[in-house]
Amino acid sequence: MNPIEQFEREKANRINQFGNDKVFQDLSRDWVELSMRKSYVYNFSWMGRPVIQFPQDMVAMQELIWEVKPDLVIETGIAHGGSLIMSASHLAMLDYCEAIEAGTSLDPQKPKRRVLGLDIDIRDHNRKAIAAHPMSNRIDMIQGSSIDSETINQVKDYAKNYKKILVCLDSNHTHEHVIAELEAYAPLVSLNSYCVVFDTFVEDVPKDVFTDRPWAPGNNPKTAVWEYLKNNSQFEIDKTIENKLLITVAPDGFLKKVR
Ligand SMILES: C[S@@+](CC[C@H](N)C(=O)[O-])C[C@H]1O[C@@H](n2cnc3c(N)ncnc32)[C@H](O)[C@@H]1O
Repeated sequence: MNPIEQFEREKANRINQFGNDKVFQDLSRDWVELSMRKSYVYNFSWMGRPVIQFPQDMVAMQELIWEVKPDLVIETGIAHGGSLIMSASHLAMLDYCEAIEAGTSLDPQKPKRRVLGLDIDIRDHNRKAIAAHPMSNRIDMIQGSSIDSETINQVKDYAKNYKKILVCLDSNHTHEHVIAELEAYAPLVSLNSYCVVFDTFVEDVPKDVFTDRPWAPGNNPKTAVWEYLKNNSQFEIDKTIENKLLITVAPDGFLKKVR
């Protein structure tokens, strides 16, 4: 076995063991709970824009985008725009690498790969900051509820021009809302690509972690994923991602389209 294969095998074995390591898993879940009580997730930015994610999940998104090589990332929940900018920067790297490999030059005015963001309320200062960002030329945004039929139709229309699509759901985290988002957007995900459902961890922490939000254990993205998967065999939960991360907001939320 060559050293690269050896390294990958050791990594796979380690990740597999983490999946059965109750002590490490419990410790990680406790850490996630405390970090949420302390609003740790608001501490970060990507290329200057606040991004409401754990650094671990940001690395997971980089790995996924590199693996899938999507030409379109659809995201519900824009907030300050950090996750849109982050996805756009990963897509820019893909375009750059592809051009290097093909020996062609990049046209910065017409980026091939794009990000489409949806939010019910794109605040003016956020819209302006996203528009002023160097990554903005590969970002489009729609203001509207992600489960509104008008928004869904606009997204479906937009998506027709793309071949490899990855979806991230990070807006309203109630069960009913996420089920509706899964029904609307998961069908757009390409084979072997992912629908990433954020904030499934809500199911695993005490209900007083979120006193000012409608979601809670029993009513959150993880319960929505479980219900959605009961009648959908196209997607499977990719446990290797949460087993490698341990610290993630998306346990059972990395859904791979396998058929
Ligand atoms: C957690 S933040 C998104 C964070 C962002 N993805 C990031 O990583 O930085 C949730 C966003 O969802 C938006 N939102 C809430 N309800 C929504 C709905 N029905 N449709 C679309 N967006 C919604 C909120 O306005 C808020 O900006």
